[in-house]
Amino acid sequence: MKEVKIETTLQVFDNISDVSEDVQSLMSKASEARNNAYAPYSKFSVGAALLLDNGEIVTGSNQENASYPSGLCAERTAIYYAGAKYPKAKFVKMAIIAGSQVHPTLTPIPPCGACRQAIAEYEVKQDIPIELFFMGETGKVVRSNSLANLLPLIFDKSAL
Ligand code: THU
Repeated sequence: MKEVKIETTLQVFDNISDVSEDVQSLMSKASEARNNAYAPYSKFSVGAALLLDNGEIVTGSNQENASYPSGLCAERTAIYYAGAKYPKAKFVKMAIIAGSQVHPTLTPIPPCGACRQAIAEYEVKQDIPIELFFMGETGKVVRSNSLANLLPLIFDKSAL
């Protein structure tokens, strides 16, 4: 038996004003998209904005359903729409902002496991890292220079 240690490196910014202007602007788009979240059940709203290499920005918000598992997260709403509308484009970076409607969310909210898997599919497909930034409603912003940092032991097409 041998132990394997998996490490990851993320950057943490104290405030949105500490990231570059283009990322601030992408995060604003995510925040606008968050206003369109349909989250009557969880009362937790998420917005995502994805920059493509053709300059387009695709946004998404979480869309819930009375049949709970039928709902979809903001990140997958955005990335699947981008894949459907711009199949040749590469995905450059995604900004994610999330928070409860009933109490302040001051800590960065990372994408859920299912969204990580979905984003990973496109990162593997394009063979170029997708940069991610995520935050709560305010406060710290976390940067990951690729999705792979957030998903050790990735399951991808190489396993099939
Ligand atoms: N949600 C997202 O939109 N993205 C995530 O990465 C985590 C969770 C949504 C799903 C659901 O509508 C609500 O947040 C509570 O889980």
